[in-house]
Amino acid sequence: PSKIAVLTSGGDAPGMNAAIRAVVRACAYNNLQCVGVYRGFQGLIEADFKELGPRSVKNLINRGGTFLKSARSQDFRTDEGRKKAFNNLKKENIDALIVIGGDGTFAGASVFMNEFNFPVVGIPGTIDNDINGTDYTIGYDTALNTVVEAIDKIRDTANSHNRLFLVEVMGRDAGDIALNAGIGAGAEEILIPEQNRGRERLLESLSRSKKSGKTSSIVVVSEGDQIGKNIFGLAKYIEENLTEYEVRVTVLGHIQRGGSPSCYDRVLASRLGVGAVDALLRGETNVMIGIIHNRVTSVSFLDAIKGNNEIDEDLIRVADIISI
Ligand code: F6P
Repeated sequence: PSKIAVLTSGGDAPGMNAAIRAVVRACAYNNLQCVGVYRGFQGLIEADFKELGPRSVKNLINRGGTFLKSARSQDFRTDEGRKKAFNNLKKENIDALIVIGGDGTFAGASVFMNEFNFPVVGIPGTIDNDINGTDYTIGYDTALNTVVEAIDKIRDTANSHNRLFLVEVMGRDAGDIALNAGIGAGAEEILIPEQNRGRERLLESLSRSKKSGKTSSIVVVSEGDQIGKNIFGLAKYIEENLTEYEVRVTVLGHIQRGGSPSCYDRVLASRLGVGAVDALLRGETNVMIGIIHNRVTSVSFLDAIKGNNEIDEDLIRVADIISI
């Protein structure tokens, strides 16, 4: 390729800016032109482009969000929308595309690539860590640290009042954030969609804890868990069945998507950004660049988004043991 476009799509994640920066600079290093596309696939359809050079991405490595902005484009789901996008790319003489996002982004990119035989490479950017073919997605580590910091604060007040707190965290259908932040923050119980252990089991566990002398508790609830879908109802259910508990709910929400990326996310984003340009130069297409066992690798889009999220059974065992 000689001119590469880059965009961010779907939910934003801390470290996306660092990934764009790495793509732009890897292009410059290899004497390729680079074009930023605003608002994801929607910007492709509306030809919202801007030429990017190495100095146009200064002071960005430390900033959360995505300066190219993001969108979940409905128009790109239509044949007409994708045709417009293709024509705009041709008009600008752009001959390859790098997309930074999650499963929705890769599904869209894969359809586009198959329709127009246009080279596309993906970079996993989502706080959910729900993509196959990479051990970590950009933004996940920062989100974990945000959640742990928030729960540490909740613990202070929970402890002062002898209260039980239900803390809802993001992750869509994946429990990675809940499980890892839950262990890191010393949660009493962690409810994740991969397990759906249910309300009764939670009651048993909470009454055992009370008897063992615990005075305050943190339960981390993943938004995708069956129980997580009605967290206020769950709080009421616990208070009705275990009258010794006073329960409060905190929904962390979009705070988990913001903030300056952690060092891990900055390094990951930089490696994957360079890796994506390398992959295009090698002639690879329709692949996502990921990291497995600390090595940059590539996996087909279809493999990246297929199947269920896998949870490490060992982590579940550790969480159960250390919360006794
Ligand atoms: O995929 C990232 C994510 O933050 C999920 O954890 C969450 O379910 C979803 O996006 C929220 O989407 P929105 O910001 O569009 O409400």
